[in-house]
Amino acid sequence: MDADTLKNYLTGLPIPALRYFDEIGSTNDEALTWAEQAAEDGSLVMADRQTTGRGRMGRTWITLPGAALAFSLVFKPRPQEMRRLQLFSPLGALGVALALEKYYGLQPQVKWPNDVLLDQEKVCGVLAEASWSGESLAGVVLGIGINVAPTSVPPASQLIFPATSLERKLGHAVNRFDVLKYVLAAVFEWRRQLADDSFIQAWQDRLAFKGEHVRIEQDGMPQIEGLVTGVLPDGRLALQGLAGEALSVQIGDVHLRLAD
Ligand code: BTN
Repeated sequence: MDADTLKNYLTGLPIPALRYFDEIGSTNDEALTWAEQAAEDGSLVMADRQTTGRGRMGRTWITLPGAALAFSLVFKPRPQEMRRLQLFSPLGALGVALALEKYYGLQPQVKWPNDVLLDQEKVCGVLAEASWSGESLAGVVLGIGINVAPTSVPPASQLIFPATSLERKLGHAVNRFDVLKYVLAAVFEWRRQLADDSFIQAWQDRLAFKGEHVRIEQDGMPQIEGLVTGVLPDGRLALQGLAGEALSVQIGDVHLRLAD
């Protein structure tokens, strides 16, 4: 793959510019730098291999050549999106889930806030980061990593949550660049609905662990336990506490796992 071929592949999508790398540290880092240097809204960074890929909460994200998708979109939020910046990361997860549903007949779920699961195993992670220069927002970077080939799944000893790949679930090979195109199309389409009830509804319809007893872990904070009831309009996870009280968890450094 190269930038020109990729550009042709993605013709018709609202991507004003793209950068393609055979190898890079992290596509999010490249996209954050580009956002500060006046990248246009919708610009794309993609790499075949990441050497210092990053996940949420300071975790490492491994991307081996030829096996996965690792890419980052630069968004320049519009004024009406400024109050919904926290919805960009679920936008990434929803885009992946809808594309896997529509084009591959799968039934993905979104593990709040933004992991995509297939049969309760993680197939995709999303890392959204904002770049601020003082009070002004240079851009939001939406980084998405998808396990496509079975070799993209790290050994179980390195996982904190069970993981799988698209090809393992489908039982056949897929063209990574088709997956990329479908996901990008869904992300751009659903971005237009970021302010609408339909966005939260689509997310909620695919929410993993609904009605189940879960434990929320937050760095340096007491754990929260409860039953998952849904997603609130601002993206918080809604729960029913063990005494029946309504609880909610802010989007951010939250780790959600099935209770033991
Ligand atoms: C997570 O599950 O913790 C989020 C993983 C996000 C990985 C993607 S791969 C493309 C982009 N570049 C990065 O360094 N991280 C994101």
